[in-house]
Amino acid sequence: MSTPGGDDQLVVPRSVAVIMDGNGRWAKRAGFERIRGHERGVDAVRTTVTECARLGVEALTLYAFSEENWSRPKREIKLLFGLLERFLVAERPTLMDNDVRLLHSGRRERLPPRVLELLDETVELTAKNGGMRLALAISYGGRQELADAARRLAADVAAGELDPATVDESALAARLYLPELPDPDLLIRTAGELRVSNFLLWQISYAEIHVSDVCWPEFGKDELHAAFREFGRRTRRFGKVL
Ligand code: FPP
Repeated sequence: MSTPGGDDQLVVPRSVAVIMDGNGRWAKRAGFERIRGHERGVDAVRTTVTECARLGVEALTLYAFSEENWSRPKREIKLLFGLLERFLVAERPTLMDNDVRLLHSGRRERLPPRVLELLDETVELTAKNGGMRLALAISYGGRQELADAARRLAADVAAGELDPATVDESALAARLYLPELPDPDLLIRTAGELRVSNFLLWQISYAEIHVSDVCWPEFGKDELHAAFREFGRRTRRFGKVL
């Protein structure tokens, strides 16, 4: 964690995760269709990605589409994936200019082929970038991730590569979707809801939680800085007595 010069209250977490909520509510309030909220949400994604990279965040995970989101109306899903496709192409210069490496977290099975293709291309393009790692959680669910990790453990045991007696926390953590990422120090959720919504259930065990009342399309640098300032005021004990 570091403190950028000039503001000793703003503490930059090493790893940040964001539940980007409230696109639909923002659109409804403004008298638009829900998809306009998602469109404006893409601008907020760009702002948060570039500002986190500038401040020195090492890993940023954004909850873009949950496993549960598959039950939304087909039209909204189609439009959301259209936005993702555009993002994955249009933001390549931004990712490269900011030395950001893109990663995917989630299940690949249900993703449309074009999204997978563009995702893989952008992951490949940015693979050598050494700055912030940006994980897009798409078709992601925390319980599903744990079930997938348990299945991998079972397969390794069945193949004789793993002794069940040695299965511990690190054995399971190593089989999560992105085991190389540090656990989030800070979980941000927008639009005022006090829920974790099946996001990174394993990884957020000791994350500090910041809930912003603004909807995701309104989440800008000021709101991000407010989250980092609040993070700086927290005392993290990790279950110990200080
Ligand atoms: C939650 O708002 C938001 C989503 C389910 C999708 C998030 C998607 C984006 C921010 C845009 C695309 C993302 C990227 C990375 C390009 P909601 O629709 O649940 O809002 P509501 O609770 O107010 O209805």
